[in-house]
Amino acid sequence: NWNMAGFRDAEIGRIRQKVGKGRVICGLSGGVDSSVAAKLIHEAIGDQLTCIFIDPGLLRHGEAEQVVATFRDRFNIPLIHRDASDVFLGALEGVTDPEVKRKTIGRLFVEIFDEEAAKLGGAEFLAQGTLYPDVIESVSAVGQSVTIKSHHNVGGLPENMKMQLVEPLRELFKDEVRMLGRELGLPEEIIGRHPFPGPGLAIRVPGAITREKLAVLRQADRIYLEEIRKAGLYDKIWQAFAVLLPVRTVGVMGDGRTYDSACALRAVTSTDGMTAEVYPFSFDFLNRVAGRIIGEVRGINRVTYDITSKPPGTIEWE
Ligand code: XMP
Repeated sequence: NWNMAGFRDAEIGRIRQKVGKGRVICGLSGGVDSSVAAKLIHEAIGDQLTCIFIDPGLLRHGEAEQVVATFRDRFNIPLIHRDASDVFLGALEGVTDPEVKRKTIGRLFVEIFDEEAAKLGGAEFLAQGTLYPDVIESVSAVGQSVTIKSHHNVGGLPENMKMQLVEPLRELFKDEVRMLGRELGLPEEIIGRHPFPGPGLAIRVPGAITREKLAVLRQADRIYLEEIRKAGLYDKIWQAFAVLLPVRTVGVMGDGRTYDSACALRAVTSTDGMTAEVYPFSFDFLNRVAGRIIGEVRGINRVTYDITSKPPGTIEWE
């Protein structure tokens, strides 16, 4: 007999009690989780909350602009926007190992939060939109000595972090977070948004990351999502994204030979991200997307569709 309005009220009480008159900074990513966490905390403590949006240079097309427009302009929540792409991409230069990517990104997010918090004159609390599946995947990874993936918003925090964590969504699954978001009056376009991983496009470019590769990936990803929305399929899918593969293949374009990157498209259904099924697009749909990507994105000349379920695959490629 789960009651979201009750959960909201209880959680608002818990946040007030924990935080007192302290300052909270919330790492806003633009995703559902941090958006719901930020709105909930803002309802609890108002402008004791400042949101810090760090753009790591690893977001999708148009996302940074959208975050600022939504939270600063629409919700009037105090928001600091820090473009940290130079720092992140510099630190990731030449890094190929997925876990090193995650840890590097997690560490930088925390360091930059600390910096921004210091500029604000200090904050006692750091709020995060950590969900239950993040918590249990990390805990079981510790217990089993085999780490599948360290989620940077749970496992990657350094022990010397100065701030205490506020994680009001820790007991919730994704569908419950969406219910809570509706309860809080967040717009459907945010609530219905596909999850996006903290390490962002870094784990969708297997191998070393460059600005050029990210730019190519962003274009393919934008076209793919555009076609998914146009076909009315966005809400039927848990996550959909393009992956830029670290392999070049030969193609033919007009009279010429091409030698460019291949990309993979991924789309899955899921209820909590723990297991996932491939989304069964029509052949026509896939053909249309592939045609557009190859025709419009310079640097990609081959498109594949990933038909791996989770398990044994994972949703992300890294
Ligand atoms: P996997 O790839 O493990 O992903 O099947 C399960 C869900 O988690 C997201 N994901 C992450 N989210 N930090 C995050 O915040 C991470 O390091 C991370 N890795 C994967 C993934 O997008 C999917 O929703």
